[in-house]
This record gives sequence, C-alpha cells and structure tokens, in this order.
Amino acid sequence: MGEVVLSMKHITKRFNNVVALDDVNLELYSSEVLCLLGENGAGKSTLLKILSAAYKRDGGIIEIDGKEVHFKTTRQAIESGIAVIYQELNEIPDLTVAENIYLERQPVRGPLKRIDWQRMVKDAEALFSEIGIDIDPRRRMKELSVAEKQMTEIAKAVAQNIRILVTDEPTSALSEAEVNKLFGVIDRIKRMGGAIIFISHRLDEVMRISDRIMVLRDGKNVGVVKKEETSEEEIVTMMVGRKLVEMFPRRRHEVGNMLLEAEKLTAKGIQDISFQLHKGEILGVFGLMGSGIQKLGTVLFGKDKWIRGHLRLNGKPVNYSSPCEAIAQGVAFVPSERKIDGIIACMSVKENIVLASMTQSKPRFLLNHSCDRMIAEKWKERLRIKTPDIRNAICNLSGGNQQKTVISRWLEMNPEVLILAEPTRGIDVGAKAEIYELMEEYARSGGSVILITSEMREILEMSDRILVLHDGEMNGVLVRSEADEEKLLLLAMGGTLL
Ligand SMILES: Nc1ncnc2c1ncn2[C@@H]1O[C@H](COP(=O)(O)OP(=O)(O)OP(=O)(O)O)[C@@H](O)[C@H]1O
Ligand SMILES: [Mg+2]
Repeated sequence: MGEVVLSMKHITKRFNNVVALDDVNLELYSSEVLCLLGENGAGKSTLLKILSAAYKRDGGIIEIDGKEVHFKTTRQAIESGIAVIYQELNEIPDLTVAENIYLERQPVRGPLKRIDWQRMVKDAEALFSEIGIDIDPRRRMKELSVAEKQMTEIAKAVAQNIRILVTDEPTSALSEAEVNKLFGVIDRIKRMGGAIIFISHRLDEVMRISDRIMVLRDGKNVGVVKKEETSEEEIVTMMVGRKLVEMFPRRRHEVGNMLLEAEKLTAKGIQDISFQLHKGEILGVFGLMGSGIQKLGTVLFGKDKWIRGHLRLNGKPVNYSSPCEAIAQGVAFVPSERKIDGIIACMSVKENIVLASMTQSKPRFLLNHSCDRMIAEKWKERLRIKTPDIRNAICNLSGGNQQKTVISRWLEMNPEVLILAEPTRGIDVGAKAEIYELMEEYARSGGSVILITSEMREILEMSDRILVLHDGEMNGVLVRSEADEEKLLLLAMGGTLL
C-alpha cells in the first residue's frame, strides 16, 4: 500500500428528507483495492456519485494528493484521474471498441490531421495486452457482452491515465470466468500503482479482491478493516448491525403433484427443453452465461415465443402469447434485468407493488387505496424496503431496494408458478436471507418456484432438483441429494457425469 491518494472528509448528502450520507470519511491509498460494503440504501453509490461530481454534496471536502478539489462536472473528475464505471454503461453502440477508447483523443496523422485508424487499433491492442484484455478492438461496441463492455470501459480509463478507478457492482451481471478476468485486470492496475474502489454484495469476491474493507450503515461510517484481520462473519455483523444466524432457511416444504410440464420446448436460443414442475417444488435452473437459462425464463412467461414443443399447466395445454396471459394463468416472473423489465420508474413504490395483483381477475373496485397502502406497507416492513414513504418514486430508491420492490409485487400476486431470475442480484445479505425464507414459505404453502440463477450456493441450498443447461440444451438434471458444485459446473460446461 502506498500513500493516500484520495480523502473524502465529512461528506454529507440529503435528498429531501432522506439523509443519504452523514459525515462520511473515506481514505484511499495507491496500489490498493478498497471494498465498500453496506446494506441496500446504505449510501455507497451516492458517495461515489459525489466523488465523480454526478451529485453535488451538501457538505464536506475532497482531497486528491492532499490538495482540495472542487469538481463541477464529471469531465473535471476524469481529468483529475478519477474514473467511475457504473453498472449501466453508456457506450455508443455503433462505434468500434478502439474508437470508444480514444473518443475525443484520436491519434491523427499528416498535415490534414486525418484520424489515424491503424494506429488507433494498434494502440488499443497494445493497451489490451498490457492490462490483460482479450478483445478485438475492431469489433463494434454493440456486439460485446456486458463483461466485454466493462473491460473496454476500464481500458478506456487506463488510457486516460486514470489513477483512481471506481466500480459500482461491476460483477453482478458477470459469469464466474468473466469475474476472474476482471479481477486479473484490477490486479494489474493495482500493480501499476492505481487505486481501486470496488462495490459488491458478493462477500466471497470481496474477500478475494480487497486489501481493506470499509462498511457504511444508514449513511454513516461503521468502520474500516484490513482483509487479513477480518472474517466474513465480522463484516456481515458490521453491515447489518446484528449477527446473522442463518443465511438459508431450514427446508420444510414438501413436493406434491405435477403442476407444469414442458415438452421439447424450443425457441430462439433454447432447444428441446423438457421438465416437470411439481406443486411445492423449487426447481433450480443453472447454466453459464449464454446457456439459455434466461431465455427459458422469458419463454415460460410468454415474453418470448416458442416455436416448437408443448407446455401444460394443470394438465391443460397452454399457449399464452403475452405476459398478460401468463399472469392471468397464475405465472409470475421476476426478471434479472430489473432496469429494463422490472420497474416502472416514474411510479411510486406502492404502485409498483400492487401493480400485478391489480391486473388479476379481482374486480378493481374491491381494492381501494387504503388496502393498497396496507399491502405496500406490509412488504416495506417485511423486506426492509428502505424509503421514507411508499408514495415515493421507485427510481429514487437504491438498486437493491428497487429489486426488493419488484419481488414483493409478484409475491403479493400469490401466483401458482413463480419464476425468479437472479432474484438476489444486488441484494444485501440481510435481505437475501429474507428472500430465501419467503421462497421456502411460498413453497411450503404449495407454490412452485423456478429459480434461475448463476449463484451456485443459492441454487444448491434452495432447489429440490436442478436442471442444467449448456448451449441452449439440457445437459442433465441433478436431484438435491446428489448435487454439488463440481457436478453443476461439469454439466454446465457440457461435460457428462460418469
Ligand atoms: N436521486 C435520489 N433521490 C432521492 N433519494 C435518493 C436518490 N439517490 C439515492 N437516494 C437515497 O439515498 C439512500 C442511499 O442510496 P444509495 O443508492 O447510495 O444506496 P446503496 O448503498 O448504493 O444501495 P444498493 O446496495 O441498494 O445499491 C437511499 O435511501 C436512497 O433511497
Ligand atoms: Mg448502489
């Protein structure tokens, strides 16, 4: 660890009546990875947005190399060597990777100052090999996966002589292999003397990548610890302010009769998927990125059409052509991309929660506003959705709290089949445990769950059976008693069990 490159002192920030940050201090050294941890709504993203000048602070000072700075625009922050990589990237889709990296600073040649395309590509290649990225700079941004886009953004930051790299939940949409690559790149930047701030809700990753860990709770500093001197348990206790006894609930549900049957379901991206789902069963669906597991979810919910095969619900063939029809037949879906599919950003938390139950067959006049209120308040308390008022717009909630709102919407509908895609992505440990408990309860009351997730521990602990997909096709079904990480990965990578 080198010297202090950044200090944020006594930072405060309010949004109307919400105190998002209350006298927060942060110190960052060169050649270190500092992980920022805290429950959903603790103030992590807000702190970083203040650093990058995306938000104005109400109080406090920021120093770089011991000198106070006042950024008015994000551009100024970048010029001082700070790059913030958000989860939602704003690349220009039709540019090539190289163009995106050297945007506004293209190398030129000749008296006419023509852009030197060849050099740009060469420079990009040299940069990529320096930090260990394997992407062809001639590809267009829109062709890249989320992981590749992130890598490109990071490369861009390095090309701009960035000294402080800030990443807000960069790994939540990445596969295991991609996370490893990202960590490789972060490690190189660190060895080149850069300083990194890293936010994640995945504790295993935090324990791997961090040098120090800083915890925020309710907008206040809780403490900073060195990685070698702490444990996951201690960090969790710091985060939630209490000891978390059990992450996963005791299994009490029983699997009943068959409810849903898929036979050779085929759509763009998946082929011949056949399975049965029983009442009170939690069926896991596992696969690596690109395996088709997300596609299976959207097909089962009527968002994408299947071109061949059959689906039967309660013994009757179903052929819904839209999510509305799926909902009417008791099928609910919590999407993995909540920003795109999940929330109605301008509506209140309350409206977002009661939305799905409103579209059910219940006559609308039976539901009055006080009833909506009660429902929304119930979920707010249950999942600890952090908002001063359920009438607030959902877009003002922290990422994790938006996710909790979407989940409560579907649980409130009480569907027959609940499809959950990456339900705990971006969710803090305390609320995770709560969501697992809700899943267990829901199954115990006879509900059926399809759990689509790339989190291995989650799927192993929660599922009765696990369907493994590889390259759009089924590559095995594991029952709970015989499933383990090794077998899951082997099947997901296309291997066969002996
Ligand atoms: N633009 C905004 N308007 C109003 N309130 C906001 C706004 N941005 C953040 N907040 C509030 O500030 C608090 C901190 O939010 P922040 O997004 O920093 O949390 P976080 O620690 O990043 O959480 P998560 O883990 O869920 O991403 C929350 O209570 C949130 O509702
Ligand atoms: Mg956040």
